[in-house]
Amino acid sequence: MCGIVGVTGVKGASGVVYKRLSLLEYRGYDSAGIASLDNGKISFCKRRGRVFSLAGDLKNLHGDTAIGHTRWATHGKPSDENAHPHTAGKFSVVHNGIIENYSALKEKFFSGVKFFSETDTEIVARLLNYFYDGDILNTLKKTLPLLQGSYALVVICADFDGIIVARHKNPVIVGYGKNCAYTASDLSALAGLCTEISVLEDGDTAFLTKHGIEFYNSEFERTERSKRENPAQSAELELNGCPHYMLKEIREVPSSIIKTADAYICTRDKIKRYLTGADRIIITGCGTAYNSGLIGKRYIESFARIPVEVETAGEFRYKQPIVTKNTVVIAISQSGETADTVEAARLVKSLGAKVIAVTNSPYSELTRIADAAVPVEAGQEICVAATKSYTGQLSALYLLALTLADKDEKEGAEALKVAADIIARTIEHTDIGTLAEACARSSGVYFIGRDLDFAVATEGSLKLKEISYVPSEGYPAGELKHGTLALIDIKTVSVCIICDGELAKKSENAVEQIISRKGKVAVITNVPETVNRLKGKAEIIEIEDCGKFLSPLLSAVIVQLLAYKTALLLDRDPDKPRNLAKSVTVE
Ligand code: AGP
Repeated sequence: MCGIVGVTGVKGASGVVYKRLSLLEYRGYDSAGIASLDNGKISFCKRRGRVFSLAGDLKNLHGDTAIGHTRWATHGKPSDENAHPHTAGKFSVVHNGIIENYSALKEKFFSGVKFFSETDTEIVARLLNYFYDGDILNTLKKTLPLLQGSYALVVICADFDGIIVARHKNPVIVGYGKNCAYTASDLSALAGLCTEISVLEDGDTAFLTKHGIEFYNSEFERTERSKRENPAQSAELELNGCPHYMLKEIREVPSSIIKTADAYICTRDKIKRYLTGADRIIITGCGTAYNSGLIGKRYIESFARIPVEVETAGEFRYKQPIVTKNTVVIAISQSGETADTVEAARLVKSLGAKVIAVTNSPYSELTRIADAAVPVEAGQEICVAATKSYTGQLSALYLLALTLADKDEKEGAEALKVAADIIARTIEHTDIGTLAEACARSSGVYFIGRDLDFAVATEGSLKLKEISYVPSEGYPAGELKHGTLALIDIKTVSVCIICDGELAKKSENAVEQIISRKGKVAVITNVPETVNRLKGKAEIIEIEDCGKFLSPLLSAVIVQLLAYKTALLLDRDPDKPRNLAKSVTVE
């Protein structure tokens, strides 16, 4: 949430920042701004709306240094005033995170002073300017310890020909160029610009100039941070003729499964070391990552017979978790930066549990905290709605469950590759148009299923509501009659997933109950008998059989496509749904 980019030592710096900010819009898109530095003069523009609304202002932003921000509002509504950068005297600041004590600081240092914005960030610019004595490091020493909460701060000062970066909890990276330097909240923003990066550690500050990058640790002592290769590829950021990132990323589901399976085989031994002796497993994550944990639980309990609990990370942290050294906590996160998940992992690690990260982000905070990381090789996911990362997570969890059960992961990887082929065929040939039209017209969509199919139903519902704004819920098929059936009428659509032959008849009962109440029903199934029994009564979307445990990967793609098509019919932007951001780095 909130994208940040900064460049120094680059001709036309504001133009570069503008272009790179557009790539970061998935982190927030309710307002944007850029500040530039030219011979000691700071100029800025900022507006409510998308990054492209700044295009006309670039001609006024001169100099070789610029910083920019695309915002997902936390404190203060989306408006021109609340957009970043926030400027006070010689300092201009962009920020990702939350300054929790900003009101107290305002009261203490600026009582009676009228601020320009309602944000928690303006206090940072004000404090920097207040403490400034000509020595920036000294000013940071006085300012940063006062700030409570979390931040990635990127700052320019009229007296310094470069950029200052500071980190507390929120991620920020710096990149090395020839006679120039870069900073950003995400690797992808620097794809194609620099091949070497460093990740700031908690409490670090860095000074970027065209001559290089100087690091200081949390005690403000000079330190070094290792250089790493920037894995982000600019080709991944191209739409390649696809109308939306969501569709492009659904089409990349098969390759994300194959790459994740291959990567798992390479890291398996390290992961096994941390799983040995586990007598209890807790899976945690948020949103889609939590939903993939529901399926992970079934894999682990079925294959390894080890008890698993699945907890949403935001709740788990506050439940005084009980863990021992034999508890393994699997923290799932596409971004590896979701605050709730990262903090949950930090907490259980401090309590003695082992932490395994399942993440698409090898340099993330979650990877850093974890004892070992299971790589999800989905590549850059730009659409706010998770698609290929979800199926990548399921693939990783499937193999991890096999490891826990001492079963052959190589065979598992082969099975995943067969499933990937089936999914590739299905994406090309499935027609979901009629069902999408019904969903778009409906008053609400209920996704139902049993066991693994219920877990996919939960994800289908999240996907649909997230990008189409159609009210939706996911329910266990058997629960319908205990309350939700009261909501069913002619205006509702129910999507029933039946991909487990043994449970098919039970789920069909729920379908019959809905039909009796005049609700429209569509059934996603790979069970031929179900097709025969329900033909003519419900719309049937027949899919191939990937086997009981891998069928969720295929049915998930169908519900992703359904959400995508429904969003388009309702004229929504599937890549940038309202009110949301891709990585939620605040609690
Ligand atoms: C998924 O479509 C959502 N955008 C959201 O639920 C997401 O999965 C959640 O915020 C967790 O993100 P993470 O995987 O990066 O931790």
